Amino acid sequence: MIEQRPHIQAIPGYKPGKSTVDGWDGPIHKLSSNENPYPPLPSVIDAMAESIGHMHRYPNMAAPALTNMLADRYDVKLGNIAFGGGSVEVAAQLIRAFAGAGDEVMYAWRSFEAYPILTRSAGATPVQVPLTADLHHDLPAMLAAITEHTRVIFICTPNNPTGTVVGHDELHAFIAQVPERILVVVDEAYVHFQDDPNAARGIELFHEFKNVAVLHTFSKAYGLAGLRLGYAVVRDDVMEGLRKVAMPFAVTDIAQAAGVASLNAEIELQARVDTLIAERARVTAALQAAGWPVTPSQANFVWLNLGDHTDAVQAQLASRGIIARPFSGDGIRISIGEPDANEALLVALGEFTGD
Ligand SMILES: Cc1ncc(COP(=O)(O)O)c(C=O)c1O
Repeated sequence: MIEQRPHIQAIPGYKPGKSTVDGWDGPIHKLSSNENPYPPLPSVIDAMAESIGHMHRYPNMAAPALTNMLADRYDVKLGNIAFGGGSVEVAAQLIRAFAGAGDEVMYAWRSFEAYPILTRSAGATPVQVPLTADLHHDLPAMLAAITEHTRVIFICTPNNPTGTVVGHDELHAFIAQVPERILVVVDEAYVHFQDDPNAARGIELFHEFKNVAVLHTFSKAYGLAGLRLGYAVVRDDVMEGLRKVAMPFAVTDIAQAAGVASLNAEIELQARVDTLIAERARVTAALQAAGWPVTPSQANFVWLNLGDHTDAVQAQLASRGIIARPFSGDGIRISIGEPDANEALLVALGEFTGD
């Protein structure tokens, strides 16, 4: 038996989401991973197909075309965009480069499930600061939890799984009080679904503060979850660290081509995002009207704050072919899908008897 190192033993095994439901032979609606329900656009598929022909070569790690477009968009230098195989891989790079044994990585809880795993994998200590009663980041409590060991703070806004956002002014005031030696990572995986004008704008904060990095992904609004393409906007000193720990060649030329084509197709993609935002409003209103404890969301999912009822409601959803993401004892996160999937969700919840 090969022993895992103690800090690895402490990591719970990853449980991938299900895609089948026992005892149900009707349609299955997979609403468990916050994916975009729409397949890649034809123009994006064409761009990917074109780059397949040179897969005998390693990809260009500089991702020049994509870097140019993103640097232009955010008014940053080419050297300030760091890529990874999904933004979760960039988050892993950030933690690996800046935190290790004896260091603390702080984030709100509940939040993105990868944070504790990535933190422990790096040998660092997770510091989880509970969300407020209304499921927002408790920034005063996070400030109070900073110690001399704190190296990285993640702010997930909109927050996975609650869909709540941190206010821009509130986050600005928070970062102004965080010592500059601590890296504040604003994880904006769901930012394209945000329509609250007061919500945090990570890129503005990046321009204003020296210790801010912003994480973005092509997995959600751009609908390329299976391709694994994410990036961070970072300052030169952070980039220097990331270059040392990044997985070489993690971002394929196919992913780079799809990224470029997606940025060129934003009007079409925005129409899909707008549809999902409208569906989010419809689903939220219907759930509120039926008395479900739904939290208003700024992301492409909703959160049912069910506490002890979580397992019973989850069983009801599964029995109707709805695959959601339960957190036993806490609540259920349900991605917004196409209208028929959302309708199936509302019907399944409407039939819940509480038994
Ligand atoms: C808050 C948050 N950040 C990052 C990610 C990672 O996404 P990806 O690695 O697909 O870019 C996710 C995915 O669910 C997420 O919820």
